Amino acid sequence: MKNEVLDSLLTPKSVAVVGASATPGKIGYSVMKNLIDGGYKGAIYPINPSAEEILGIKCYPSISDVSGSVDAAIITVPSKLVDGVTDEIGRKGVKGMIVITSGFSEVGNRDLELALVKKANSYGTRVLGPNIVGVLSNTDKFNGSFAPFLPLPGKASLVSQSGALLIALDAATYTRRVGFDKLISIGNMSDVDFADIVSWLDNDPNTSCITLYIEGFKDGRAFIDAARKASKPIIALKAGVSAHGAAAAASHTGSLAGAAKVYGAALQQAGVIQATDLDNLFDRTLALSQQPPMKGDNLLIITNGGGVGVLATDAAERSGLPLKFAPADVQLELKKHMPEFGSAKNPVDLTGMAGNDWYGDSVRYSFAHPWTEGLVVLYCETAITDPMQIAQAIKKAVDESGVKDKPITVSFVGGEKSEVAMRWLVENGIPAYGAPDVAVDAISSLREFSRMKALSAQTTEPCAAFDSEAAREVIRKARADGRDSLTEIEAKEVFSAYGMPVTSTELARTEDQAVALAKKIGFPVVMKIVSPDILHKSDAGGVKVNIKDETGVREAFKTIMKNAKEYKATADIHGIAVQEMAPWGTEVILGSVNDPTFGPTIMFGLGGIFVEVLKDVTFRVAPVADTQARRMLDEIRGAPILAGVRGEEARDREALSDVICQYSTMILDLKDEIAESDANPVLVYEHGSGLKVVDARIILKKK
Ligand code: COA
Repeated sequence: MKNEVLDSLLTPKSVAVVGASATPGKIGYSVMKNLIDGGYKGAIYPINPSAEEILGIKCYPSISDVSGSVDAAIITVPSKLVDGVTDEIGRKGVKGMIVITSGFSEVGNRDLELALVKKANSYGTRVLGPNIVGVLSNTDKFNGSFAPFLPLPGKASLVSQSGALLIALDAATYTRRVGFDKLISIGNMSDVDFADIVSWLDNDPNTSCITLYIEGFKDGRAFIDAARKASKPIIALKAGVSAHGAAAAASHTGSLAGAAKVYGAALQQAGVIQATDLDNLFDRTLALSQQPPMKGDNLLIITNGGGVGVLATDAAERSGLPLKFAPADVQLELKKHMPEFGSAKNPVDLTGMAGNDWYGDSVRYSFAHPWTEGLVVLYCETAITDPMQIAQAIKKAVDESGVKDKPITVSFVGGEKSEVAMRWLVENGIPAYGAPDVAVDAISSLREFSRMKALSAQTTEPCAAFDSEAAREVIRKARADGRDSLTEIEAKEVFSAYGMPVTSTELARTEDQAVALAKKIGFPVVMKIVSPDILHKSDAGGVKVNIKDETGVREAFKTIMKNAKEYKATADIHGIAVQEMAPWGTEVILGSVNDPTFGPTIMFGLGGIFVEVLKDVTFRVAPVADTQARRMLDEIRGAPILAGVRGEEARDREALSDVICQYSTMILDLKDEIAESDANPVLVYEHGSGLKVVDARIILKKK
């Protein structure tokens, strides 16, 4: 969808620099000089009450004195003056403010920032920043910033929350040879945020890959929505991954949900490719901006050296693209372009004797072959070859193959001549890297892109019918009691309302009632204390299992009551829950937190020591569709246990993914009520036999 306001902000046809200065060293001077030196073709209006002209351009005392229309205003006056100039800018009908000025929420002045956005928006003006470097665009030769120059031209666009990093990366585009069309500094994101810019860049004809440096979102869900809808690859480096919110967590899940894990899950759900560090961000951006997605897993590697071939093979395995042997016809054909002792399997080793023709012929044939879905070409600099000629042979072969919908990456390992040849390849649209594993990682990001797009396009409809009103009634009663946590029985009623199978549990207030309930449910039974003041029931000696007869029930009732009173004399004891003793199954844990950025978020892992010691858990932002749920099951390190190990039957993974979906529906529907929750343990039975939620805990939001 076209966004004319953001068009004005990011590709303005005319700009005013409010706070333009004739004094070198001032930011208002740098911005003016950058606009001129960058070759900006639009009208430039310096605004300064005490200057006649700046850098040879007529200056105006106020933006109201400009007669022509102005698309964007770049603000370089101190923060205390911003409010005043905003009125003039708004009245002039300027659509966008690029607010470079610092001194707002980043130093605690939140009110000043809110007032700026409120005022600007009241005129229909949007605010980028404040606290930013500015906006740079090669297409428009627009350097509306105090970064020194426009980046190396290319097809990626970078959005950075850190201004200093944006300036550093601007220079690095030349040394790293990764080209960008736009660099957009987003700063405090008081108004225009990542979601707005991602949607806009997705429609920008000069951007083919959206590269993000993220410290945090204000509205995580808006970002997920925007990213999911985008058709271009988005790659992100997320910084600031220390745990947050975990310290005060009351539930098990709360203590496991660090920012890094939840962000990782959310970015994956949004279909965003993640970079591990700045190098990786650049390397992957290069491939994503120059090459099409890789639609299948068939990766072919062609090399002239066994060593780099092995390194690339290892990297392929690490990247989730383990090599398969090339089909017989491919092997037969490639054998023609190598000596007897070469190998046509995969990696295809043309040997150190390979020259331009062997490279050219094998690339042309194998790239066009329908089996190949991605190609990595490796070259070790040898005395009998010239790197530039090899590079040209590869490029010619790619062109002659006529293939446009499969990716290729290249790695040349050698000296200066190889560097020059790789630069030439990159300039001609073929991503080239100095190490074989990097070339493989880069092509794997193109595979990841198409895999994630398929997943994130999935529907997020609720997975089953549910009875929201029944659940809310349970919560209302607990709140009326003045409680902010539910008892196990209540929590299970809520779980049941969303279709989750729970062990049948009833409350006994007296010993006789417990006996009657046990007989009704059927022996053996489990008995547990029910008290809002005793959340950790086992620690209080409040749980007895495998009770086989009436005498056992009576003994257990007395012991549990005694233990509970000893544990906490003032505890409000509702009674004792008598429940069916579920047969043994594989223990898993489900849980939820209400993440400060993404809202209701679900966790899944194997129970017992897997969660306690190994913290082998995975997260998703609710709602979680079926395929994502199945992906969660595969993601944990203990996944083989669910698939069936050592001759054991596979567990009921279908039932488990249904419950993940139902659980996510519950926490989303009750997002205003539930702060944290756990179903721990959930016992999962053999394939086809379902599962049972054995214990449940819900902590309510404080109201
Ligand atoms: N309209 C237009 N110009 C005005 C004005 C008005 N109402 N009132 C004052 N000015 C002029 C000033 O006279 C000055 O011009 P001059 O050099 O001709 O005197 C110019 O605006 C700038 O004002 P000044 O007071 O000199 O401020 P400064 O240049 O020292 O600092 C900022 C201004 C915005 C650069 C500074 O406040 C700031 O925020 N710096 C940090 C920016 C940053 O790092 N951002 C991104 C971080 S990632």
